[in-house]
Amino acid sequence: ADRYAVFGNPIAHSKSPQIHARFAEQTGQALTYTAEHIEENDFEAAVERFLQGDGKGLNITVPFKERAWALAQWRSERAELAGAVNTLYRLDDGRFAGDNTDGIGLVRDLADNNGVMLNGARVLVLGAGGAVRGVLQPLLAAGVNSILVANRTVARAETLAELFAEDGRVQACGFDQVPAEAFDLIVNGTSASLQGELPPVPSATVGANTACYDMMYGTEQTPFCRWASELGAARVIDGLGMLVEQAAESFRIWRGVQPDTAPVIAAMRAALT
Ligand code: ATR
Repeated sequence: ADRYAVFGNPIAHSKSPQIHARFAEQTGQALTYTAEHIEENDFEAAVERFLQGDGKGLNITVPFKERAWALAQWRSERAELAGAVNTLYRLDDGRFAGDNTDGIGLVRDLADNNGVMLNGARVLVLGAGGAVRGVLQPLLAAGVNSILVANRTVARAETLAELFAEDGRVQACGFDQVPAEAFDLIVNGTSASLQGELPPVPSATVGANTACYDMMYGTEQTPFCRWASELGAARVIDGLGMLVEQAAESFRIWRGVQPDTAPVIAAMRAALT
């Protein structure tokens, strides 16, 4: 069977092996997919050992996505703009190819799985780290009207907005400068939930027609999702679907087959509680 793996540190809680095992079973593909703990100083050598050997493809997670970007000898346009690579494989000529499926994972979970209208949407994105950088181009490609990137450290939001200056639809500000008016979509891309915290944005950003999406998920509702629910958001969605969708896009790149994500999202949801 063809070999695949996800490299990260830490990696113990990765759900990717379960997700890819379900895709493989569903599509009748013979493959193995394991989670590998990689030492910080061994990443590049570990990738080369795996892909020069019988490994067919890799997912890359924290903290190695930028190093995977640097290692890739060919990159997709979306990986180029994301500045990070979560999917590696080999081209026919032997070069390492890098792609980033996180942003399309978010867009598909919003648009296809949850019916959130992205075309023309006014979007507020909270956070300006690697997770946010990876989703801006796919959101723009989906036809949003505008993206306001708000971050605790304003300079990081400004740096991201500058990357997309040519497009003209991305603006940056601090949390205290977010206008008190309802957005069509709010995406939380901060890691504040990990500390049980909530980015301090005005309640008025959530209106009766606002969809709220947290890129994080857990057994408990995240602080951001709870906040959005209490404010009466039209839709409150956590990041489990994005996780499955980014995996599905990696699987499609490697295997040329598009898995059906709905039953896998349902199974992963059921296993969470
Ligand atoms: P990732 O690659 O997951 O995006 P990161 O680059 O460390 O990780 O970015 C984390 C993001 O969450 C940043 O936008 C960070 O804000 P700063 O740039 O000001 O550090 C944001 N963040 C983390 N903890 C936060 C908190 N408690 N409140 C608000 N924002 C927080």
